[in-house]
Formats: sequence, C-alpha cells, structure tokens
Amino acid sequence: MRMAKCSLLKEGSRLDIEQILDRFLPKVEGHFKRVNEAMRYSATQGGKRIRPTLMHLSYKAVGGTDDISAYLCAIELIHTYSLIHDDLPAMDNDDLRRGKPTNHVQFDEATAILAGDGLLNLAYEIMLEDILSSMDLPKVRAASILASASGTMGMVGGQILDIQDAGKDIETLDVIHLHKTGALIKAATKMGAVLGYGSAVEEAALEAFGQYIGKVFQIVDDVLDVTSSVDELGKGVNSDVNKMTYVDFYSVDKCYEIAHDLTDRAIRCLGKVAGDTTELECIATKLVKRKF
Ligand code: IPE
Ligand code: IPE
Ligand code: MG
Ligand code: MG
Ligand code: MG
Repeated sequence: MRMAKCSLLKEGSRLDIEQILDRFLPKVEGHFKRVNEAMRYSATQGGKRIRPTLMHLSYKAVGGTDDISAYLCAIELIHTYSLIHDDLPAMDNDDLRRGKPTNHVQFDEATAILAGDGLLNLAYEIMLEDILSSMDLPKVRAASILASASGTMGMVGGQILDIQDAGKDIETLDVIHLHKTGALIKAATKMGAVLGYGSAVEEAALEAFGQYIGKVFQIVDDVLDVTSSVDELGKGVNSDVNKMTYVDFYSVDKCYEIAHDLTDRAIRCLGKVAGDTTELECIATKLVKRKF
C-alpha cells in the first residue's frame, strides 16, 4: 500500500475547524449564557475533527475550491451533540470526554440535554443561512444528506439499536456500526463530493469509501475501548463492557485484520475519483492504526 505523508489527528491538519467553530458558535453572554457556554464547552476543545476533515478532503478531491465552512461546522456540531447525549447517565453514563469532564458532569443533566439540542439545531441554522445567501442545489442536497444521516434512518437509528439490541449477533452489530458511526462518516465524504460538484461516479466512490472507513472507525473504537487508556483516549475505557461489541465476537488481531481489509477496499474506491486522493488514502490508513 502506498503511504503518503499526511497529517491527521493531533498532529495538525485541522484545516481551520477550530476557528470555524468559534465563528459559528454563540457567544457566552446574554440570557442564554449557560446553554451557550455548555455548547462551546463540548465543541471547542479536543476532538479529532475527522468528519469535517474527510468532508474537506473529499471536496478538494473532486475539485471544489469554494468556502464550505458552514457544512464542515454543521457535521462537527451534530457529532458533538451526539457525544454529549451518548455520555448521559441514561445512555453510556460516562464522565470523561475529549479529556475533560463530560457535559452533564461539568454542568448538569438538563443543561447537557439542552446543549445537545442547541448544537443539533445550530447545525441546520448555519447550513440554511448559507443556502439562503447563495441558493445552490448541491448545498440543499448536502444539507439533506446530513439530515438523513443524523436521524432515525442513520445515526439515531444506530444508537437506539445499540441500546436495545447491543449487538446480539454480528449481523446486528454490523447494522449498528453502519448506522451509529458509519452514517455520519459516509455523509461527510458524500457531502464533500456533492458540494464540490463531483460526478455521479465520484460521488458513489466517495460514499463507498466513507462507508468502509466508517465501519473501520467503530471497529477500532471498540478495540481501543478495551486496549487503550484513559490518558491516551481522553475518554473512559471499558465503557461498553456491558454491550456486545466487536471484541466480543473477534480477537483483537482479527478485528485489525478485518479493519485492514475494509481499509484496502475503501482505498480501491478512490481510484474512481479524478483529483488527488493521496490525503484521503493516508487518513484511511492512519485510522486503522490510530491510538486515540
Ligand atoms: C467517538 O468519535 C464516537 C464514535 C462515533 C466512535 P470520535 O472518535 O471521532 O470522537 P472525537 O470527535 O475525536 O472526540
Ligand atoms: C457512540 O458510540 C456513537 C455515537 C453516535 C455517539 P460509542 O458509545 O462507542 O462512542 P464513545 O466510545 O463513547 O466515544
Ligand atoms: Mg454509546
Ligand atoms: Mg459511549
Ligand atoms: Mg466506544
């Protein structure tokens, strides 16, 4: 496999996502100061920013040159809201996230629920404002892709199965992974292709790429939950021991074998994209080896 030099995760390559988030998030002032503070607390520090990074690189790969900050921000806000709610006592009941106390620990449960709701809505406010300022069908499509990927046919659907069925068998677990984590990652690469006016072939290729690496992402997340440390991850470990996850069905070595195979498949999809896909390939390779 060709290994290109690319930056990812804590090493940089954050495009300007920190600055973009800061620009779009509400200021901590006025009547709604507390919920705004809670939204900023979870959104602005830590986080690998994988989803906006993948969207940005997919957009560039199909030749996009415009400013898609609104969409990069929206997907990260939706992801952050999902993490705040995932950590709640009614869900995974975790007390550490992105190296800090979880939102409900730092604030309180009601504030955490509302901060999550606020982030979810803000994502659509930002995209709709952008669409209003320059009406463009791909932008409408991109927003629609994110809406479907986040809802009960996507991420939320996966989360409910995760709670209800918790991977009774490997087939169910695959469906859970595909939805709870895969849906947003696949949306990221597809939105990039759509916003950059990629061809139908490129769109399908980047969507398939996202689907494969989305699955890899959750397999590795399941492995790290049992092999890594709180210090390295910045979140609790053994958080999912009461659920059936990938490591209950396969050994760690086998999990990595599956993840490598899926990554190879993902990279093969990139052959159908006209532009430079070196960084996407590099990220896919790094995601299997990630330690946090
Ligand atoms: C964690 O996602 C939740 C999953 C979907 C596995 P990330 O590992 O991308 O979390 P951050 O954004 O870097 O904190
Ligand atoms: C979270 O999955 C998926 C979401 C949609 C939030 P996990 O529960 O495995 O994520 P972590 O390990 O807490 O980050
Ligand atoms: Mg969970
Ligand atoms: Mg969790
Ligand atoms: Mg996990």
